[in-house]
Amino acid sequence: MPFLQRIEVRLSLLMVLVVVATSLMTIALNTYQRERVFRELPAELRDFLRRNEGRPPSLSLTPELRSLLSEGRELRVRQVPSSNPENPNPIFLIAPLDDLAATPVQIQPPIRSRRPSLETRIQQNLLIASLVATALGVLVALVFARRIARPIEAISDAANRLAQGDLAARIEAPRGEDEVARLARNFNQMAASLEKLETERRAMIADIAHELRTPLTVMQARLEAIQDGVMPLEMGEIDRLHHQTRLLARLVEDLRTLSLADAGRLTLELRELDLVEWVRRAATTFLASLDAKKINLERRLPAGPVRIRADADRMTQIVSNLLTNAQAHTPVGGTIALEVCTADKTATLRIADSGAGIPQEALNKVFDRFYRAETSRSRATGGSGLGLSIVRALVELHGGSVAAYNRPEGGAVFEVRLPLDQA
Ligand SMILES: Nc1ncnc2c1ncn2[C@@H]1O[C@H](COP(=O)(O)OP(=O)(O)OP(=O)(O)O)[C@@H](O)[C@H]1O
Ligand SMILES: [Mg+2]
Repeated sequence: MPFLQRIEVRLSLLMVLVVVATSLMTIALNTYQRERVFRELPAELRDFLRRNEGRPPSLSLTPELRSLLSEGRELRVRQVPSSNPENPNPIFLIAPLDDLAATPVQIQPPIRSRRPSLETRIQQNLLIASLVATALGVLVALVFARRIARPIEAISDAANRLAQGDLAARIEAPRGEDEVARLARNFNQMAASLEKLETERRAMIADIAHELRTPLTVMQARLEAIQDGVMPLEMGEIDRLHHQTRLLARLVEDLRTLSLADAGRLTLELRELDLVEWVRRAATTFLASLDAKKINLERRLPAGPVRIRADADRMTQIVSNLLTNAQAHTPVGGTIALEVCTADKTATLRIADSGAGIPQEALNKVFDRFYRAETSRSRATGGSGLGLSIVRALVELHGGSVAAYNRPEGGAVFEVRLPLDQA
């Protein structure tokens, strides 16, 4: 970085500028003040002083002379030789013209000594003080600027590395509570989020590839077996192949829904909807399969309607994803309870089952993409771990929230909260 562009150099130069400007102002004010006093003196005395390069003994006039001058009367100035051998300068006797009897005010310019006058010394001292202040200022500026500049340089370096793809770039934990420390901490947080996002993105691509590969491999192996004549081409085999393509199609559709939701491009066709009616209808489509597994479906629905604004198709998707999970995790002869209630501008849909429940460590992960609590079993049942992440994305798009917990008596509960339609 060019020398003059460095923060510490710029701050030091600024400090020098301030000190020099202050000193110059002090000297200028001092000179101006002296000139004003000088100008108030009678003309004869001024002339004498100018000619002899002297100055009155003090910056202020004597009180008597000052009152004489302020009265605005015409003055008579008489010059008498000095009788004092130590100061040969003449004595000026100043008296009002109209009152010759008054005692004149006496002023005798001091002799020009070898020593500089008091003012010259004051000016010199001011100059020396300014120089010392400037030097001190530069020193202090350098120390402070260094302390401010170092973390900023570190942030700039780390940002550079981050831009070049080094997502592990961090700044050494800065101390203090000032803006720079906060900036550094925020930067570290941002870098950590970026790194996490990137890791998730990579994991997601790996997961997608893996999920797509499984049904494809199965189909490929079966088709090759048929081609080689190892397997006969019969309807049962075609059904199994069809089942695999449907799995693939569902997976691709789920991924599409999630990526559209991520990009904010999943548009909902919102309309007024009775949640009770909707849940009842969605449950009906499950009755046959629940019956087959001898699962009892308990419906605890309010008598009146519960109005929400929602996209009908997406609501069906939410309810059926949750019911599919409940059904898959409830043992034969178990129970699934469907409950709808309202409280405080919120409609709550609860789906509880009598299965094994969700392992404690998995409770806050079940909504993550591709997450399966028991990998082997879910894969066997064809689950890809996207169902609940779609539920969460859709519920959030509706302005609601979803949570999972276990019932003390066993079994998982999924709770969807949606804002009631206020209109
Ligand atoms: N009712 C439940 N009881 C116990 N565990 C559950 C229940 N619902 C979901 N889970 C756990 O959460 C995981 C994620 O569920 P999710 O619906 O996202 O995926 P999946 O059912 O495995 O696959 P997909 O729904 O994509 O076909 C499941 O694999 C399961 O381990
Ligand atoms: Mg599921």
